[in-house]
Amino acid sequence: MGKRTNMNQRGRVADSAVVVIFGASGDLTKRKLMPALYNLHGHGLLPREIAVVGQARTAGDDEAFRTRMTEALRERIPGFDPAVWDAMRPHLFYLSGGYDDPAMYDALRATMATAAAAVGAKRNVVFYLATPPEVFATIATHLGRAGLVTAGDDPTAWTRIVIEKPFGRDLESARALNHTLRTVFDEPQIYRIDHYLGKETVQNILMFRFLNGIFEPVWNRRYVDHVQIIAAETLGVEGRGGYYETSGALRDMLQNHLLQLLTLVAMEPPISLEAEDLRNEKVKVLHAIRRFREDEVLQSAIRGQYGPGTVDGRAVAGYREEAHVAADSRTDTFVAMRLFVENWRWADVPFYLRTGKRLARHDTEVVIQFRRAPLTLLPDECGQQPNRLTLHIQPDERITLSFQAKRPGPVLRLAPVQLEFAYRDLDGRAAGTGYETLLYDCLIGDPMPFHRADMVEEAWRVVTPVLDVWQALPPREFPNYAAGTWGPKAAEELLARDGRAWAEPT
Ligand code: BG6
Repeated sequence: MGKRTNMNQRGRVADSAVVVIFGASGDLTKRKLMPALYNLHGHGLLPREIAVVGQARTAGDDEAFRTRMTEALRERIPGFDPAVWDAMRPHLFYLSGGYDDPAMYDALRATMATAAAAVGAKRNVVFYLATPPEVFATIATHLGRAGLVTAGDDPTAWTRIVIEKPFGRDLESARALNHTLRTVFDEPQIYRIDHYLGKETVQNILMFRFLNGIFEPVWNRRYVDHVQIIAAETLGVEGRGGYYETSGALRDMLQNHLLQLLTLVAMEPPISLEAEDLRNEKVKVLHAIRRFREDEVLQSAIRGQYGPGTVDGRAVAGYREEAHVAADSRTDTFVAMRLFVENWRWADVPFYLRTGKRLARHDTEVVIQFRRAPLTLLPDECGQQPNRLTLHIQPDERITLSFQAKRPGPVLRLAPVQLEFAYRDLDGRAAGTGYETLLYDCLIGDPMPFHRADMVEEAWRVVTPVLDVWQALPPREFPNYAAGTWGPKAAEELLARDGRAWAEPT
């Protein structure tokens, strides 16, 4: 039976709007936002009446901005088609000025009006904050003061704000930011981005679980031994040492991306794909995660920092040698954690999370490890728990189901084998940045893949005890793993203590 859903909105051309990108001279605009706009335009999902106003401190004008963005696209988009872009290029505008300068917001009003008139855009506005987090609150407050924000309930002239990560650096700062935003915007106008939720393979977790009838019956503590959620990167901090020093792996990846993956894996079936139905279920999972007691933290949350090593056959520097990183930095570039979701479905099933920079392989995956069969008929042959479902998120987008099969031949011997579905075999896959879906959803008013205020705060509540203990007891043994390995030994021991091991990448 069909359920109410906003899914039938999908595929329609997005609403006419003026999109203002704050921080438009930065990396995100070049690497993600413009390519995403180009792709959406190429797919016919943007209306003709759309304008993009780039705003940043760097001096410049419309023409210079258009040229820079065109060059960036040419560099980044394989098969870049100038004919597609030529139609979009005149829809770009630029305004320079300081984020805390009231005069800039007056100028912005004028630029938005010029841009809207030039392309015939309606009074809808997206303010996209692609800036450093320190100015999120400043910009929101100024937008409110300048009267640039219409009330949330005016469907003929909506205003939305998109906030990039990081959303706060702990529970207190996240709450303060939520508070400031809500003095200017209503909650439905606020789109807090988690770019993992724009990934095709991440969105598919929901479809895989809830649009098929065969997986849910075994998706619980009776059949699942444990779950692993892994986001391993081979990259280092790539010139972002300044930011990373204030963040670390726990804040940068686990609090947001990994916990979001966990909610998708652990949530109860929603009653529809409506944003609020889904987000209600997700927040319940975060709420059900058992909070760490102080004395459990060092046992259950393992931190690491890479030293020099070899990645993909290339010698690389240690974290402390990276630009803008302190020579005695205590920042975590690796974290592994054991969590429990305390509800009827998952009681006593450990969720092991692991993420880090400069690890042995680039690999993001979710592993559902099923319990072994209740009776082992071939004790010598049966390996450890052969049944495993792996959702490979990236770079290799696949789903594999592992099980045992009989090897051909007269002697009864088993072999581990796999059933596999690869995304590349599906028709109609559009190459993208992951931001296409997010921008499009914002333009059609579907907050489904964005964080709601309570979700961000719950996620901070999960990690805050860890941050507190880590701060009170600084690491003494950093760096504690060589670049190009799987992280510190303690991360292996975390599972070994439970008689388990991290899944070998397949
Ligand atoms: C970002 C982090 O949110 O996600 C980066 O700030 C990280 O440090 C990146 O490298 C990983 O994203 P992806 O899409 O490459 O897995």
